[in-house]
Formats: sequence, C-alpha cells, structure tokens
Amino acid sequence: MADDFTVTPWEVKGKIDYDKLITDFGTQRIDGSLEKRLEKQFGESHYMLRRKIFYSHRDLGWIMDRHEKGEKFFLYTGRGPSGHTHFGHILPWLFTKYLQEKFGVNLYFQLTDDEKYLFNPDLSPDDTKRLAYENALDFIALGFEPKNTKIFLDTEYIHTLYGIAIKVAKRITFSTTKAVFGFTNSNNIGSIFYTSIQAAPCFLETEYQKKNVPCMIPCAIDQDPHFRVCRDVAPLLGYYKPSLIHCKLLPSLSGEVKMSSSVPETTIFTTDEPMAAIKKIKNTFTGGAVSVQEQRKSGGNPDICSVYAYYNFLFEPDDAKLAHIRAECTGGKTMCGECKERLAGCVAKFLTEHQKKREKAKDRLEDFMLRD
Ligand code: TYM
Repeated sequence: MADDFTVTPWEVKGKIDYDKLITDFGTQRIDGSLEKRLEKQFGESHYMLRRKIFYSHRDLGWIMDRHEKGEKFFLYTGRGPSGHTHFGHILPWLFTKYLQEKFGVNLYFQLTDDEKYLFNPDLSPDDTKRLAYENALDFIALGFEPKNTKIFLDTEYIHTLYGIAIKVAKRITFSTTKAVFGFTNSNNIGSIFYTSIQAAPCFLETEYQKKNVPCMIPCAIDQDPHFRVCRDVAPLLGYYKPSLIHCKLLPSLSGEVKMSSSVPETTIFTTDEPMAAIKKIKNTFTGGAVSVQEQRKSGGNPDICSVYAYYNFLFEPDDAKLAHIRAECTGGKTMCGECKERLAGCVAKFLTEHQKKREKAKDRLEDFMLRD
C-alpha cells in the first residue's frame, strides 16, 4: 500500500510519520541513554532534545566516543538557496550553533546554488547565487564567528569540492540514485550527479588535514537520503562515514505539512516585515474549537495547532511555560486570538532583532567566505 506521506530532499507531502521514517531510512532513535550522554557533555539538557525535536541519528554514539577520546570532529550543514530563509531553516541552524559552542569545533556551511538551479525550472544561476548570499546573512546573523565557521557556495568553491565529488560520484551508480531519490530517465544529468556535491564537504577537513577527521551533520531528516548514499561510499574511499543528528520539520502555518518557501502565505521568512508576519500569524491554523463557547467548555487541541507548534519548536524553550500554554488551551482558559497575539509579539521581536543583525552581517560576510 502506498504511504500517505512523502519525505525526500526535494519534496515533503502529507502527515509525516516520524517513527516510520526511522525504519524506512534505517536511522536510529536518540534514546534515553544517548540523550543523557549528550546532556553530560553539554552540562545541561537542551529543549530540542528533551522534546524529541532532534530525535534521530546515525553514529552519534561513535562520534561521541571519538570526541571523548580527544579526537576533534567538525560540523557540517547547509542551505539550498531557492528563496529567502524561513523559520524552518533556522531550527537546525540554532541547534548547530549550540553544538558548536558546546563542542568548540569548526563548522562548514554549504550553499548549494548549483542544486537549486538544477532542480528548479524557474531559477537562473544568477538567482540562486544572489539568494545564497541572502541566506548566508541569516546564518551569520544567528551569531556564528568567522574564526571557526566557514561558508561557501558550490559554484564558487568548486575547485576544492570537485576533486572530492568525483571520487564519490565514481562509486554511485545511476540505479542507486534512482532507488534512493526516485530519479527517472527524464531527470537532467546535473541533478543525478548532485548528491556527490552535497557529500563532498563531509570529507573537507580530512582533505585539508590529510588525515581522517570525523564529521557531524545536524539537519532535518529530509536531507538524510544524500548522506545515506554518502555513508555507503565513504569507507570505499578510505574516509570515515559522517554522523548525523536529525530533527523533525517545523510545520507551516496551515497545519500538518512542513513550512515551505513555495507557499509564502503560510511561511514566515526572516526578511518579512514584522507587521506582515503578524498578519500571517493571525490567519494561522489552530486547534481551536468551533466557537468561543465551545472552546471555553471543552478547550482547544494543541497537538494539531500551528501556533502551539511554533512555541514548542522555537519560541518557548522553557518547559514549565510551555506546559502552562498547553494547560490554558486544553482547559479552555486561553482563546486562540490571545495565543496568536502572544506568539505574534515573540515573532515580531525576533524579526526586528534578527533583521538588524542581518544588516550588520553584510560587513562581515567576506570574513566567513571560503574562496579557492
Ligand atoms: P534546505 O535549504 O532545504 O534546508 C536547509 C536546512 O533546513 C532544514 N529544513 C527544515 N528544518 C526544520 N523545519 C523545516 N520546515 C525545514 N525545512 C528545511 C533542512 O533539513 C536543512 O537542514 N540540499 C540542502 C542544502 C545542504 C545541506 C547540507 C543541508 C547542503 N549540504 C548539509 C543540511 C546538511 C537543502 O536544500 O536544504
């Protein structure tokens, strides 16, 4: 029977069964003992782990073993510049920043302007390059430091990437890409090759240092298929397999599906005017009852509510406060209008501050860029 949801790096549809994805993709759940191990390392617990927002992994225990024995690893994550950055993208980046601070390691950020040109019929190479630099500003605005964080665009850093990418590409057959990504004979050949470009940064530090360096990739689970292929190839090339830590997808303002740039009305972009974002939040899908009377009587349903999802994923890291929001909703004490208004205030404040930092990032961009 066909699944009623789809998760690939290029398409997310339907109500996602995250447990099933673990089985389908062959990843591991972050269990209690691994979570405790991370907490011990961090000296505290992070809400994204407690709430199982980051919930799946590959070889996280292995990379922790290495780290505990004094072997430095590096972090690698990225963005496909198909539009402006939205709140969904920010989610794994914030966690990446936390990991970088706690582990004190280098971080590489890949901007796949090639990918978004190859996969998007409406974007030109100039468009994706321009958007890549826009997205880089958001990344920098989150507070990364150039001393240990480096950013590159595929089309600009290709001299370094290509040598690694062809080694990877030689070990991946067309039939593997068909099986993993669902490609057919009508896909352009650039898109078929592309996964080797996304795999290449997993081995950057190994190539720089001329010795194997472990790599950890924080991302949403939609990107896993690239790294599944990459992990199969890595040992054949004498590289360590990269480790991954996966998060769930922030839903759109309309409910179940993930937040996506292609539906701007139900997506909050970091570049949205605060007033425009507030307007979007006013139209958000909630778990409210059919009438105020009914809601006062039976309460709302936070489990299907986008406003609650925003608190849970991003805007209310304090568990006690989140529990209070839930209790006020289910107990019929807070109406959706008030709850939206409070979220709108948090979002507007975030956007105002972020946009100032984004402006300042323009002067620092070059400090972060890798050039070859
Ligand atoms: P992209 O641009 O689709 O997404 C960038 C990062 O954001 C994650 N993501 C989300 N996380 C939570 N909620 C959402 N609604 C949501 N939408 C997207 C993605 O999983 C990703 O971590 N091909 C990649 C770019 C890339 C990359 C990488 C990503 C290149 N190298 C290494 C992660 C790790 C892309 O198009 O991501």
